[in-house]
Amino acid sequence: MANILAIGIATLDIINTVEFYPDEDSEQRAISQQQTRGGNATNTLTVLSQLGHQCSWGGVLIDEPDSQIIQRDLENNHIDFAACKRLADGKMPTSYITLNQQTGSRTIVHHRDCPEFSFEDFTQIDLSQFDWVHFEGRNVVETKLMLLHLKQHHPALPCSLEIEKPRPDIESLFDLPTLLLFSQHYAISQGFTDASSLLSSLSTNIIATCAWGNAGAWAIDQHTKLFHSPAFAPKQVIDTLGAGDTFNAGLIDKLVNNTELEQALTYACQLAGHKCGQVGFANLSHTFEA
Ligand code: FRU
Repeated sequence: MANILAIGIATLDIINTVEFYPDEDSEQRAISQQQTRGGNATNTLTVLSQLGHQCSWGGVLIDEPDSQIIQRDLENNHIDFAACKRLADGKMPTSYITLNQQTGSRTIVHHRDCPEFSFEDFTQIDLSQFDWVHFEGRNVVETKLMLLHLKQHHPALPCSLEIEKPRPDIESLFDLPTLLLFSQHYAISQGFTDASSLLSSLSTNIIATCAWGNAGAWAIDQHTKLFHSPAFAPKQVIDTLGAGDTFNAGLIDKLVNNTELEQALTYACQLAGHKCGQVGFANLSHTFEA
């Protein structure tokens, strides 16, 4: 068991499951609708908590009705949110998600009108209690200050950074964390056509992974050795929402326990594949055997 802190967002996810993906300017009834807590950092913590870790979230909580769903879910998943910044006014980030029953694909329209968790908020956290810190790669200026702070004041504390979307100057963060977690979306946005060419383009002291959907995932270690794991597709793909967040949790779970990168990569692919075979994250670890 490790103490893990994640900095990033919690959202309200309004998920409409549809029989097939709608045409533009059409009308369709949803088969079902579900409202849950989402957000990359808190999704990753939900999985890590199931895997037996003590999890804490640093992010922004706004005192409005939707926040109740989010807080209840964090409590149910034993995620501590005492480190959050609380605001009286505003709206929690909300995602309107179309989940295609035929393919399990998720299409997200995200609305955000909420300040980011700042470096100043981060400095209020007692970091000495943690074994790992995970960051969403957003809010580049403030995240850089947090990563530099860790490097300077807690050099032995490992940290991971998710690079999911291209953002101005996000590349300036690459040298700072212990582990970089790239998405296929980011790699393609930078003109790469496969994961290994993105990883090989990094400077040599970086440990990084890049997931690539059905093709599995790749990892590179400090000796620039490349590893590949195949994807582990479930019998039927039901729900891919949060598959990347689950992959990140699988890696952190293994690496915080000093497992070799190659084994951690395979496990993360297995766990993410298993997640795609079920709706949401409930009881994910109980039904999963690597
Ligand atoms: C899935 C997810 C959703 C959330 C959206 C935010 O990875 O975290 O739960 O609504 O992405 O970008």
